[in-house]
Amino acid sequence: MNLEYLSGFGNEFASEALPGALPVGQNSPQKAPYGLYTELFSGTAFTMARSEARRTWLYRIQPSANHPAFSKLERQLAGGPLGAVTPNRLRWNPLDIPGEPTDFIDGLVGMVANAGSQKPSGISIHTYLANCSMERVFFNADGELLIVPEQGRLRIATELGVLEVEPLEIVVLPRGLKFRVELLDAQARGYVAENHGAPLRLPDLGPIGSNGLANPRDFLSPVAHYEDLKQPTTLVQKFLGELWACELDHSPLNVVAWHGNNVPYKYDLRRFNTLGTVSFDHPDPSIFTVLTSPTSVHGLANLDFVIFPPRWMVAENTFRPPWFHRNLMNEYMGLIQGAYDAKAEGFLPGGASLHSCMSAHGPDGETCTKAINADLAPHKIDNTMAFMFETSQVLRPTQFALECSQLQPAYDACWASLPATFNPNRR
Ligand SMILES: [Fe+2]
Repeated sequence: MNLEYLSGFGNEFASEALPGALPVGQNSPQKAPYGLYTELFSGTAFTMARSEARRTWLYRIQPSANHPAFSKLERQLAGGPLGAVTPNRLRWNPLDIPGEPTDFIDGLVGMVANAGSQKPSGISIHTYLANCSMERVFFNADGELLIVPEQGRLRIATELGVLEVEPLEIVVLPRGLKFRVELLDAQARGYVAENHGAPLRLPDLGPIGSNGLANPRDFLSPVAHYEDLKQPTTLVQKFLGELWACELDHSPLNVVAWHGNNVPYKYDLRRFNTLGTVSFDHPDPSIFTVLTSPTSVHGLANLDFVIFPPRWMVAENTFRPPWFHRNLMNEYMGLIQGAYDAKAEGFLPGGASLHSCMSAHGPDGETCTKAINADLAPHKIDNTMAFMFETSQVLRPTQFALECSQLQPAYDACWASLPATFNPNRR
């Protein structure tokens, strides 16, 4: 199947898989074309400002309401409940992909979270590990999903159409959107940020101007595509952190036409227009923000998705790696490929680190010593893609994340080799 995409961010898109399936001039005619049912899919409260509002009108074979009662699944999300609070810096090696058949739902492993799913703010972060396609269909009532593949290509069939993504691309699925994740390779691994707060959007650019960072036209949404299948299908939902399921006699991916702006989208991180200094020092890492979920406090993010892409380093007389820092924001980092410029070793693709509010961190000893003594010719940091989920509320690891064998016991030691170089007699 050759996929088509609609280009733009936050646009009012319209798409129909059959000619004339989309009503013209009104949303809910007495009889929708082709005998379809009309359904509204809202991602924000009705009364939000127009610039904030997200909603899509769906024209579908069966309304979503046609389902029996959901029952709680015996197998719940992996990762377990949240564990003890810790101010310590934590780092994990990548989790292994299981040997037994594991689809995207069973392969979701909770790592950290800063909110119960019942709150309209905060985030939960999962790793996903899968070796087979979903046969079930899933939706998450608890938040929007930002999926960051690290290994394996995915075909994601959604109510609004099909997206294919590969490592170095990301996909965002609105809260409540039904979807099925199929594997295009033998196995898949990656990261998921579950955003319980305001939907992700592009950051404002301020003095940068009207271009740069992630450009709107590089965000791609699917075109309408429907399954008219009378076959038993399990529909799973996550509701307040728990998995529930019901059995349908048809595919719920049965939307023939739609219009609106509450849509899934994908983005190729290689298209990020990376900006940085051309003189000295380097800007705060907020210059690398791809998407942001704001809070009601202006400038304070519920979730920032930030990347560290290939880029030229040209700053003169400058300590070029990320500086040592202690921040208000809580940082969960991952690595999609290559190496991250602040760490000589120990931070692997598929791995992760957590630096919480006010925890001191920065380049490890080896990287720091090298940077202080480096010849500052322009050089390119290449073949790399690290990223950060940054959030204003403290993240608590799950019991699994605190107890798993992938948790590195001696992470603090990477800063222990920093030599004492202070000499009051030599400036
Ligand atoms: Fe940091």
